[in-house]
Amino acid sequence: MTNHEIKIAFQEYASVKELETTHRDLCAEAVKAMENSHSPYSKFRVGAALLLKSGKIIHGSNQENVAYPSGLCAERVALFYWGANHPADPIISMAVTAHTDEFELQKPITSCGSCLQVLAEYEKKQKQPVKVILFASKGPVWVTNGIEAFLPFLFFEDRLS
Ligand code: THU
Repeated sequence: MTNHEIKIAFQEYASVKELETTHRDLCAEAVKAMENSHSPYSKFRVGAALLLKSGKIIHGSNQENVAYPSGLCAERVALFYWGANHPADPIISMAVTAHTDEFELQKPITSCGSCLQVLAEYEKKQKQPVKVILFASKGPVWVTNGIEAFLPFLFFEDRLS
């Protein structure tokens, strides 16, 4: 038997104000993206913003539905829009934030497994990692360089051959 340990690297900043300008601007875009959240059931609003190599910004927000499983997370709304419309323009970074009137978020939300799996596929497709910036109105900002930090045991296509 061998024990293995995997270290996960990410940066923590005290607030969005500490980030470099491009990241700070992308966080502001994620807040804007959140305005179009359709979340009458969870009352939990999520916004995601992608910065593409060309400088283009893509917004996504969670879109819920009365038939609950039909809804989609903010990250996948943004990522699938990218896949459908801008696949040749690499994603440099993705900022994600959330808000609810029910309580004050004290730390960032971390993307669900399905969103991470979708991000992983697109990272492989574009052959470059995506910086992920997670933040809320309070608490720290977490920045990771690519999907590896979230899914070290990622399933991807080399396992199929
Ligand atoms: N949600 C997201 O949009 N992104 C996440 O990373 C986690 C959860 C959405 C799904 C649902 O509309 C609401 O937040 C509550 O789970």
